[in-house]
Amino acid sequence: MLNFTVHMPTRIHFGKGEVEKAGEVACQYGTKALLVTGRSSTKKTGVLDRVIASFTQAKLAYVLFDRVESNPRTTTVDDGARIAREENCDVIVALGGGSTMDAAKAIAAATLSNRPIYDYMRGNPAGTATELLPIQEALPIVTIPTLAATGSEANSGAVLTHWDTKEKSGIGGPGLFPRAAILDPELTYTVPASYTADGAADIFTHLYEAYLTGDEHANVQDEITEGLLRNTIMYAKKAIDEPTHYEARSHLLWTSTLALIGIANAGRGGSFPVHAMEHTLSAHYDISHGRGLSIITPAYFEQVIKKDRPHRLARLARNVFHITEQNDECAAQLAIEALIDWYKEIGVYSTLADMNIKESDLAMMADETIRINGGGRPFIPGTHELTAEDILNIFKASY
Ligand code: NZQ
Ligand code: ZN
Repeated sequence: MLNFTVHMPTRIHFGKGEVEKAGEVACQYGTKALLVTGRSSTKKTGVLDRVIASFTQAKLAYVLFDRVESNPRTTTVDDGARIAREENCDVIVALGGGSTMDAAKAIAAATLSNRPIYDYMRGNPAGTATELLPIQEALPIVTIPTLAATGSEANSGAVLTHWDTKEKSGIGGPGLFPRAAILDPELTYTVPASYTADGAADIFTHLYEAYLTGDEHANVQDEITEGLLRNTIMYAKKAIDEPTHYEARSHLLWTSTLALIGIANAGRGGSFPVHAMEHTLSAHYDISHGRGLSIITPAYFEQVIKKDRPHRLARLARNVFHITEQNDECAAQLAIEALIDWYKEIGVYSTLADMNIKESDLAMMADETIRINGGGRPFIPGTHELTAEDILNIFKASY
């Protein structure tokens, strides 16, 4: 196991009805909130009214910023930060999915620094990201997730899109850890089947990426990861079939948080090449993150992991998909087939062509994946150095 430091400072309130505490929790960190939401779901489901009622009860002033789109844009973050400054907000509350929480975190940083958020992004040619990252300071953040997927509710990252340059990448740092997160599984009852499935595919990917690419001597983390992977499989379909099944929704939500809070991947190192590839697809075609991940994963397993670390895929096969095959190469193949079966079962098995992505753009997007994520090198890290040609081959096989 590699040396590691984990820091998990977010106070988590989990369970039925916990959303009613939103005002009481947020007023511990400020006196006027910028309440950040997506464009429609929180109004339709009524949860926005419930949060506002709890603010009123706690005598917490607020300004609503309800303009966050999926795959949130830097321009939206800059608008939110301007409003937070003009209104003298001193705490940021995010109510929504990963996009809303990520935008809120970025707003919390940009409000304090008074800089455009693009200054923090790696692809900015001005090169300011090196001096600004990791982000040390931001306004206090409180998250209230309404969708189980990203784990953004309790981690220190945020993923943004600078649409003009088609860059989608992460920013992060200790300043972005939410002070508190309110995880009320009932808020996820209204998530439609397609986003429930995309979220499950995202959770699954957060768990397998470092498990397959990182240090192989972290058995505690391996077993934690396998347990969380099994839970994802066990409860995703249940939540799709029975959207108000409390156990299914609560297990999925808690799994999404645990998958990316630092415990499962501690002591492994490892890399997230599938995320790097998917972020390029979303940056150019605005597709759902989880769906993009599920489209490219089978080809990535087939072309990269099955060749480089068949024994790790075999372990996944045995400990997650209950496959009893003893030969590693055969078990690795069966893991890929089992994964595809699960994707089909939850409805995320698809192709890049289905997403209306142009075949003629694949080579450009492979090059862009390297440009944004390679740190000046002609590859992205993984079980081997993945070049633009390797990435193009994965995209082609996923088409
Ligand atoms: O936007 P609204 O109107 O709120 O509707 C959303 C959106 O249309 C809807 N939704 C959310 N909760 C709902 C609901 N609909 C009905 N009932 C509810 N309770 O679902 C749609 C998708 O929401 P979104 O927030 O975009 O999805 P997700 O949570 O998957 O977040 C995706 C974003 O997070 C980034 C992704 O790249 C993407 O930009 N990620 C962030 C990470 C992080 N901060 O740690 C890590 C991830 O790997 C990921 O990259
Ligand atoms: Zn993800």
